[in-house]
Amino acid sequence: MENLKELDKTYIANTYARFPVEIKYGEGSIISDEDGKQYIDMGGGIAVNIFGMQDKVWKNAVVSQLNKFQHTSNLYYTEPCVALAKLLVEKTEMKKVFFSNSGAEANECAIKVMRKYAQDKKGPEYYNIITLKNSFHGRTLATLAATGQEDYHKEFLPVTQGFISVTPGDIVELENTLKNNKCAGILIETIQGEGGVIPLDPVYIEQVYALAKENDLVFAVDEVQTGNGRTGKLYSYMHYDIKPDIFTTAKGLGGGLPIGATVLGEKVEFVLSAGKHGSTFGGNPVCAAGAVSIISRIDEKLLSDVMQKSEIVFDTLSGASGIKSVTGKGLMIGIETEKGAEKVVNECIEKGVLVLKAKNKVRLVPPLNIGISELKKALSIILEICAVG
Ligand SMILES: Cc1ncc(COP(=O)(O)O)c(C=O)c1O
Repeated sequence: MENLKELDKTYIANTYARFPVEIKYGEGSIISDEDGKQYIDMGGGIAVNIFGMQDKVWKNAVVSQLNKFQHTSNLYYTEPCVALAKLLVEKTEMKKVFFSNSGAEANECAIKVMRKYAQDKKGPEYYNIITLKNSFHGRTLATLAATGQEDYHKEFLPVTQGFISVTPGDIVELENTLKNNKCAGILIETIQGEGGVIPLDPVYIEQVYALAKENDLVFAVDEVQTGNGRTGKLYSYMHYDIKPDIFTTAKGLGGGLPIGATVLGEKVEFVLSAGKHGSTFGGNPVCAAGAVSIISRIDEKLLSDVMQKSEIVFDTLSGASGIKSVTGKGLMIGIETEKGAEKVVNECIEKGVLVLKAKNKVRLVPPLNIGISELKKALSIILEICAVG
């Protein structure tokens, strides 16, 4: 389309500051723009395209479902959605899954489950949900309130009530907050993704889990960004000695088609009953068929490849000229650079590498199956751009 960028500005709500690239084609971790220029994809559509662009297995699963039917609503039984729930439950030892269409919706469901659990067991005044400062849980009104960053709230006040954010790492503050408020649950990200790829202290994570257990709170982990193999485990909570009552996921789950999941453990398995929650599209058979093809291939081999590639990234970037710090886990990486992140991101695009920003960091969340040579090439360009003096 001619003048695409101008037409986009004219007709599309101004919520996105797009990079000046029109994506025309992609295969694996290589993307081409309108002029045929090629880029190494280190962003994966923001941690979504787990197996890159046009992954054949995923495409076959999706097309073969499309050749049967595309949608039925949740009034009827369909196989892909059951197959996906079974797979998720068996791989995580959780109990049940509610499907939606995005990360924010997966968290909305988690919030409803936490509130209903507490209401049923302790009374309606036990509605507060504790989240962490600098977290990100989505942009719907409840998940915005759960997001512990005032910048996201300020023009949309009043935010939904019943959310309290505490300082990550400060277990005493959490203890006091629990003493002084009637709470339903705690929701955390193990690595604050949008917050700048900041991993929580493992000791703190285990302390939060213990406190939740002690106080009979619903302990939920937001795995929207960290999930589906991204950190080197199927779900990031598996790095720690914890077992959430709920975890939520989306992004990589569908491999590029929209699907969210709220995965429920034993404690909350029966909290929802017919009519208490729902979604027209949730568990859509095409998205679910694609997701089955993704989740069934996240095995030990893929996860150990993720860790090997992660090591390459950390070894290459840590301590290099112009690089102040490298944080994250697996293939979810934040780089603090001496040049501003914005500048680095733009220069990377010019030199043929698509990277992302998260707060003041350059963020890398490439397809998990990115080739080692593509990864090394992207890293050498990033090194060259970040170098100072
Ligand atoms: C941790 C986390 N939770 C929730 C969301 C919201 O997901 P979605 O944009 O699919 O609603 C995101 C998106 O970046 C996220 O990183």
